[in-house]
Amino acid sequence: MTELTGKKIVVGVTGGVAAYKAAELVRLLVKAGAEVHVAMTEAGARFVTPVTFQALSGRTVWVDAWDARMPNNMAHIDLTRGAAALIIAPASADFMAKLAHGMADDLLSTLCLARDCPLLVAPAMNRQMWQSPPTQRNAAQLRADGVAVLGPAAGEQACGETGDGRMLEAEELFAALLAHVTPKRLAGRRVLMTAGPTFEALDPVRGLTNISSGKMGYALAAACANAGAEVTLVSGPVSQPTPWGVQRIDVRSAADMHRAVMQHLARQDIFIGVAAVADFRPARVAGDKIKKTAGAPPTIELLENPDILADVAAQPVPPFCVGFAAESCELDTYATDKLRRKRLKLVVGNLVQDGMGGDDNVVVLYDATGRHPLPPGPKAAVARGIVDHLAALLPPA
Ligand code: C5P
Repeated sequence: MTELTGKKIVVGVTGGVAAYKAAELVRLLVKAGAEVHVAMTEAGARFVTPVTFQALSGRTVWVDAWDARMPNNMAHIDLTRGAAALIIAPASADFMAKLAHGMADDLLSTLCLARDCPLLVAPAMNRQMWQSPPTQRNAAQLRADGVAVLGPAAGEQACGETGDGRMLEAEELFAALLAHVTPKRLAGRRVLMTAGPTFEALDPVRGLTNISSGKMGYALAAACANAGAEVTLVSGPVSQPTPWGVQRIDVRSAADMHRAVMQHLARQDIFIGVAAVADFRPARVAGDKIKKTAGAPPTIELLENPDILADVAAQPVPPFCVGFAAESCELDTYATDKLRRKRLKLVVGNLVQDGMGGDDNVVVLYDATGRHPLPPGPKAAVARGIVDHLAALLPPA
């Protein structure tokens, strides 16, 4: 289940090489349980045929404004009726020009006028076409009209040139759509978070770390951003892509993480400590690689790391503090103890054997009113459940 499950999404495909990425977008939307309808311009249908989109969406693909197959012959109105969003991907320079001027000379441009759902456009064109004054004027006009202009990205182009104009990847467009349809329960809130493991160096090549993948923290950062929060994510070393709309600060050790959190703490409404912060660090970091001496393994002396979450919660005017309790047993006891001892408003408890490193999680939320188990599921779904609960606990903005 995602916020897109059961939602009607109309994908408009105009003439551009990037039309092949729209096929992947449709696949991702269908996989997420969305009801996907595809409308194409004639130029779009020359790049990827309607047959492909019909197979992927499982529905009739609309190209011709005069297509009589729609029972009431009103495809231009019916397609966007009840839709959660209309996304044009790729949006050619020509199509953006039409949109900016309210032209409606084919089915897709007519749909863009005859709608009450949000419109998102993903420009895709040669860099000179994108940078040209008319296209820039049109993009500015679309933004002023409340249209979300997604990208374009910079990079290699099909024409062999390099620059701005590449359409965003299907996964990025999917993330943007997901954000668009998610209720804005955290609108206007600023969220500071930690995620991932920390790495405590022993020497230039070795260190102490843990098996945290960062997946739960990144899913929660995405869920907060999708719910309208301004999210700053202080992340330990992980190989997760930065979620859509999240400002990410990379750190390595617990001390770095502590420093970055304290630097960004001013004016935050919510702090969420998801990181699996190392409790200890080596007292000394060797400048050179520690050599093996047969029969005399080295002893590592450890020092205690600062507790970032407890330090944030102990500020004179702390943000709303949320902690995680990853335990291997007696979850209720340890999680409720953490709630009280660290002076938190909410603790997300899980058994490490249920979640750490994996794609799914089973969590129980602990707050002043008691324990609230969430349905087990993928970390993205669990993250949405945490955001919904958290949003309901917040003082009015
Ligand atoms: O006390 P414990 O380490 O089990 O608490 C876990 C919670 O505290 C998590 O939210 C974690 O991100 C946070 N934490 C922290 N700094 C530490 C240790 C834990 O912020 N040094």
